[in-house]
Amino acid sequence: MAEQSDEAEIQKQTTLELWLILHHKVYDLTKFLEEHPGGEEVLREQAGGDATENFEDVGHSTDAREMSKTYIIGELHPDDRPKLNKPPETLITTVDSSSSWWTNWVIPAISAVAVALMYRLYMEQD
Ligand code: HEM
Repeated sequence: MAEQSDEAEIQKQTTLELWLILHHKVYDLTKFLEEHPGGEEVLREQAGGDATENFEDVGHSTDAREMSKTYIIGELHPDDRPKLNKPPETLITTVDSSSSWWTNWVIPAISAVAVALMYRLYMEQD
């Protein structure tokens, strides 16, 4: 019986544990979950992954940054860093942005020509 409850306890601890990556450092935020002013859920969403972008987007205070140092448990191996820098979404964004590049430039260019022509016509009438 004792063995069984031990196992259950370990299971519980494992699901409660939360590690994430910020600026190539590994953080164990298990004990910080309930204290996080931004809530537990946002941290859980980042569990096991690189949360750097979201952490920076929030614009955490200097105090928050100082506080974060207490939870560093290690550093990401340099060999694994490129994997973080190239998430699959980047590819989608690149494809998306290259197709919208044309619309972003062509539409304003046509509008500019149209405005210039209308202006010339207007001036000629005077
Ligand atoms: C070691 C990691 C972290 C620490 C120590 C930390 C600490 C804090 C602190 C102290 C605040 C209060 C506001 C401030 O002082 O800036 C805060 C707010 C917040 N944090 Fe974190 N945080 C961490 C990671 C994250 C991550 C990974 C996210 C992911 C999105 C996040 C999302 C938020 C949000 C949404 C707020 C609320 C902002 C608001 O209400 O204006 N935090 N955090």
